[in-house]
Amino acid sequence: MNTKNKILITGGAGFIGSHVVRRFVKKYPDYLIYNLDKLTYAGNLENLTDIEDYSNYSFIKGDITNQEFIRELFRKYKFNGVIHLAAESHVDRSISNPLEFIYANVVGTANLLFSSQEQLKHNQNFHCFYHISTDEVYGSLDSTGFFTEKTPYSPRSPYSASKAGSDHLVRAFFHTYKLPVVISNCSNNYGPNQFPEKLIPLAINNILYNKPIPIYGKGENIRDWLYVEDHAEAIDLTYHNGKPGETYNVGGNNEWKNIDLITKLCEIMDRKLNRPPETSKKLITYVKDRAGHDLRYAIDSSKITSDLGWKPVFDFETGLTKTVEWYLNNKKWLNNVISGEYEKYYQEQYVKR
Ligand code: NAD
Ligand code: TYD
Repeated sequence: MNTKNKILITGGAGFIGSHVVRRFVKKYPDYLIYNLDKLTYAGNLENLTDIEDYSNYSFIKGDITNQEFIRELFRKYKFNGVIHLAAESHVDRSISNPLEFIYANVVGTANLLFSSQEQLKHNQNFHCFYHISTDEVYGSLDSTGFFTEKTPYSPRSPYSASKAGSDHLVRAFFHTYKLPVVISNCSNNYGPNQFPEKLIPLAINNILYNKPIPIYGKGENIRDWLYVEDHAEAIDLTYHNGKPGETYNVGGNNEWKNIDLITKLCEIMDRKLNRPPETSKKLITYVKDRAGHDLRYAIDSSKITSDLGWKPVFDFETGLTKTVEWYLNNKKWLNNVISGEYEKYYQEQYVKR
């Protein structure tokens, strides 16, 4: 696209969104990047201090569930592209508070689609509505097989069901209103700036402060881990070259049982903290399993590789080491994030149960 791009990125103050915003602001100086975020507990403008003064970047505080606010925003800025990441994103929170996930993920996405469709109607210069979704919409695998773009949806948590609902709405707007849309469904991300409620940063934080590392059930659940910068690269390629109406699966081809992953993380932490080998491993504590805990996710990402030329660059050892180093070098970030609200969540999730 040669015209100047005015891109609305939602959820840009969160984990993945902040990496995407930074990448677009720095790589495309002739684009205008608008970061819309409600700044929930998971949104943090400290993630973006290095680019906040760039002339092609603006932050807008707002809630995607507020229909009138979103309509006004589109009328004012006439965006010609949307990269939609804003969501409630944590499975455990969706189990204790499912309705919040329906509002943010389903109603919020519907509002953005509706305004994008109005924008398309009044000003044909609309490039793409891009929904960043998850592999969890496909449900749970047993020990074999992979999710492809043709795998039927079978979400099993309120989080994955809300993401599946929003994916269906995105496709409905493509078929009904000819809104150019694209969806990518990605596996578990890890890397700097992830809120320490998700497994890897939670374990890093607990090891650092000698707290038990909670492992749900027997630790045998499997996830396919992808370094966040590799996901940002996939998002960049898909936004620019993805075919309207298409879905692309994104994964690391990097499956780990939770217990093996945590054991590896403990080894890296021992080395980085100059602790004797096996010190951190002693913190591993098996706790009550998550309700409806999906056994295994694994992605077949051959389509995005063959169609768009994407493949991950970071191997797990490198990505995990970079992640650990980032958290150890950014203890102020971690301490600011672990404020009263996080402590309340932690008590309810792990201590009072
Ligand atoms: P995150 O929880 O770190 O960030 C979400 C951001 O959305 C936060 O900044 C939050 O303030 C914002 N937000 C939430 N509700 C909002 C609302 N109503 N209005 C405006 N902003 C709101 O999440 P993340 O891990 O960065 O995930 C980003 C997206 O990628 C999500 O859509 C998620 O479903 C998807 N995804 C995540 C992963 C993963 O492993 N983290 C994997 C695949 C897909
Ligand atoms: P999580 O990071 O919450 O991502 P998701 O549920 O979206 O895959 O969890 C990753 C895996 O780690 C999942 O199998 C649940 C497990 N887990 C634990 O064993 N202990 C924990 O404290 C957390 C947060 C997750």
